[in-house]
Amino acid sequence: MGWRELTIDLLLLLLLVSHLGAVSFPEDNIPLDVVDRHYARQYPVFRGRPSGNESQHRLDFQLMTKIHDTLFIAGRDQVYLVSLRESYRNEIIPYRKLTWRSGQADRETCAMKGKHRDECHNFIKVLVPRNDDLVFICGTNGFNPMCRYYRLDNLEFDGEEISGLARCPFDAKQTNVALFADGKLYSATVADFLASDAVIYRSMGDGSALRTIKYDSKWLKEPHFLHAVDYGDFVYFFFREIAAEHNNLGKAVYSRVARICKNDMGGSQRVLEKHWTSFVKARLNCSVPGESFFYFDVLQAITDIIDINGVPSVVGVFTTQLNSIPGSAVCAFSMVDIENAFHGQEKLPKPRPGCCAGHGSAESYKTSIEFPDETLQFIKSHPLMDASVPSIGDEPWFTKTRVRYRLTALAVDNTAGPQKNYTVVFIGSEAGIVLKVLAKTSPLSLNDSILLEEIDVFNQAKCLSSNEDDRQILSFHLDKDTHTLYVAFSSCVVRIPLSRCERHSSCQKSCIASRDPYCGWMAHGACETGYEQDVEYGNTAHLGDCHGELINTCPFSETLVRRKQTLFYYFVI
Ligand SMILES: *[C@@H]1O[C@H](CO)[C@@H](O)[C@H](O)[C@H]1NC(C)=O
Ligand SMILES: *[C@@H]1O[C@H](CO)[C@@H](O)[C@H](O)[C@H]1NC(C)=O
Ligand SMILES: *[C@@H]1O[C@H](CO)[C@@H](O)[C@H](O)[C@H]1NC(C)=O
Ligand SMILES: *[C@@H]1O[C@H](CO)[C@@H](O)[C@H](O)[C@H]1NC(C)=O
Repeated sequence: MGWRELTIDLLLLLLLVSHLGAVSFPEDNIPLDVVDRHYARQYPVFRGRPSGNESQHRLDFQLMTKIHDTLFIAGRDQVYLVSLRESYRNEIIPYRKLTWRSGQADRETCAMKGKHRDECHNFIKVLVPRNDDLVFICGTNGFNPMCRYYRLDNLEFDGEEISGLARCPFDAKQTNVALFADGKLYSATVADFLASDAVIYRSMGDGSALRTIKYDSKWLKEPHFLHAVDYGDFVYFFFREIAAEHNNLGKAVYSRVARICKNDMGGSQRVLEKHWTSFVKARLNCSVPGESFFYFDVLQAITDIIDINGVPSVVGVFTTQLNSIPGSAVCAFSMVDIENAFHGQEKLPKPRPGCCAGHGSAESYKTSIEFPDETLQFIKSHPLMDASVPSIGDEPWFTKTRVRYRLTALAVDNTAGPQKNYTVVFIGSEAGIVLKVLAKTSPLSLNDSILLEEIDVFNQAKCLSSNEDDRQILSFHLDKDTHTLYVAFSSCVVRIPLSRCERHSSCQKSCIASRDPYCGWMAHGACETGYEQDVEYGNTAHLGDCHGELINTCPFSETLVRRKQTLFYYFVI
């Protein structure tokens, strides 16, 4: 290394240190209850069902999706169907299993290309319902991605196998998203063996396939796709990528929302033919205010569009750059602010880039193919908006900065409590711990969210794990009806109840102090749902301590109440 480089490295280090020194990270909230792994050991664990040689079995979790009343859990070569209508108390038992292995020839080619045998399986990376009868499933198939339709009623493979190119990654380690909107498949993935051709692609249905420009870093630069939603006239994509606009030393990752018109037909023969004419993207700004701003720029997970105080919004968990000190934050963004960011640019050609044909300033154009060259040229070279999207309240809902782990997954219950007027956020971490946070969504003092519980969910013994990385929570599925949260790790899925009211069941003071909107004090002397609770203040000043005072022990209740309702419902039928 020459002196010059060394000096630059030292300078960078100094800059980094002085920059961090100037930042006052917010203090971490103290959890009101810590649920340790001994307590959490009672929760059911699912590792998949080995078929054949048990010692070679691995779940290798990839994704989970609810379709009708079934949770589809997809891993390596298998998809498990778990009923959400009847959940067994102490077990997660799939009622069906779909097996799809990569073919012998594909496995051999995969090995010949230098991949390890463990990588040449069929990792299921796409699982989306096409309609009421069919589900569309794609797998890596030994680095030769393929897709199939399966019938939802009998899980039989329906029709031809079709190419997974640009619909599914080659490598299970790549992240991707896919959804159907108006009968067309929107997929965001990498479309080659070396994972260098990142693409947002639309195919199937009528019309020709459209994509982002190949190898153009202004459009996409090493993206990590996390979510896609169909909303209004648009499909939105949430991802993180290397920031091409960031021109300081070193690489920085920024978080993005991108938008595409569903009626996009591609450009003219001269400009952007068979490419998106409506692709625009903006930075998501999740930062802590203060003397020097601090950014959480690395999006890890984001929700669907949900109502927060009646406003359609998304809630995401963000971290600091992966090579810096760990720090995480939860930020919410309203769809109105996202739209406003896309209206941002000044001095634009007409119709304004990003408008859908037939709407707004593009009203007089029947399809995007008729757009003038000027508009298409502008889009081609300026997909990024100047303005970033501010978070609701201009600050995070919650931060965690004084621990060694990052937060990696999230699920939101925006109708918690008997009046359905509380918002509870479940956040997963690299360390196998689930944080349960009561978000203060109104009035706009967002900095006083309450950390209700920290639950050490990972069950090393039952997940048969030896690897530290296995503790990372990959995703959540929150099921209100059964009052449960499915927590996915690479080697297993653990199901926990949304609340543990039974931990306070003998003591009114501890019940009220839990401030948990799922629990409350019952007139007959137990901590249940239904009930007296002081979520706002957790005021227990008027209540006596109750060491050793055993009034009643009682199982937690929201499920119990529901079970009774369900039973009743069955009898009525
Ligand atoms: C199962 O796989 C292990 C490891 O590859 C091997 O040692 C063992 O003989 C296999 N057992 C059977 C019954 O095939
Ligand atoms: C992010 O938001 C903060 C708070 O509103 C603002 O001061 C800052 O300029 C924003 N950063 C960017 C890049 O827009
Ligand atoms: C929720 O409703 C309860 C009962 O009406 C009320 O006491 C509480 O203040 C409400 N909380 C919020 C956050 O709106
Ligand atoms: C929360 O924000 C309000 C208003 O910005 C401020 O007065 C208060 O001190 C903050 N509380 C904490 C715990 O930071």
